[in-house]
Amino acid sequence: MLEVQNLSVNFDSVRAVKNVSFLLQNKEALGILGESGSGKSTLALAILDLVKIASGRVLLDGRDFLPSDRGAKISMIFQDPFTSLNPVFTIGEQIMETVRLHQNLSGNRAKDRAIELLKLVHIHDPEDKINNYPHQFSGGMKQRVMIAIALACNPEILIADEPTTALDTTIQKEILDLISELKEKLGFSVIFITHNFGIIRKMCSRVLVMQKGEIVEEALVADIFSSPKHPYTKELVDNLKVLNAA
Ligand SMILES: Nc1ncnc2c1ncn2[C@@H]1O[C@H](COP(=O)(O)OP(=O)(O)OP(=O)(O)O)[C@@H](O)[C@H]1O
Ligand SMILES: [Mg+2]
Repeated sequence: MLEVQNLSVNFDSVRAVKNVSFLLQNKEALGILGESGSGKSTLALAILDLVKIASGRVLLDGRDFLPSDRGAKISMIFQDPFTSLNPVFTIGEQIMETVRLHQNLSGNRAKDRAIELLKLVHIHDPEDKINNYPHQFSGGMKQRVMIAIALACNPEILIADEPTTALDTTIQKEILDLISELKEKLGFSVIFITHNFGIIRKMCSRVLVMQKGEIVEEALVADIFSSPKHPYTKELVDNLKVLNAA
């Protein structure tokens, strides 16, 4: 269980995350919903200790969760699969690099693990595909590779930060289904960051709503749709209802 206590992050004068606290249970899928600039990504980066924290604590199973240990247990996939892969290295080299770092595997064992990870994310002919360069992969395939890299260290928690916004709707659905499938199969918990309420409904059982760096509402997804409490949440729900009715 991950526990975030009173986390705050400032960038100069911008208070990007203000006193945020929440719990993430094992195997839970928690959504973080909020408009652009509300502090969602900064919160995720703060949990991973990738930005400077002004105050607050992160605990794992009730104990201080040292920044140096977080990388081994929490993985993150980002919005943009197009810039996350290095164009000058093959897909295989990039997966093997992670496998070497995190699992201390080398040579053929790293290669076998890379192939296994590509199979896990349903890339066909992984034995051939590891020799391809990123430009030979479609956007959806690149995002599958990013997921494979994120899962290389067998994380307990996967943070997915808008992982499908750059993809068209069909591919978006495939990637979301893949994340759900892998979550069940491997048993990690997920923090799903998005401004899209539809995605939260599909992927998550509980949701935190963020506005201007603060959590303004926390609810079960099943409840929030019928009885949103905060005006901002109401607006989001109404927008979705209009879309669904169209
Ligand atoms: N590296 C940075 N330096 C200065 N300000 C930053 C930095 N990163 C984010 N901010 C500011 O912090 C606030 C929160 O940004 P953040 O990227 O966390 O929002 P977000 O909810 O992830 O938005 P989006 O949905 O657009 O990804 C914004 O006001 C943003 O301009
Ligand atoms: Mg963001």
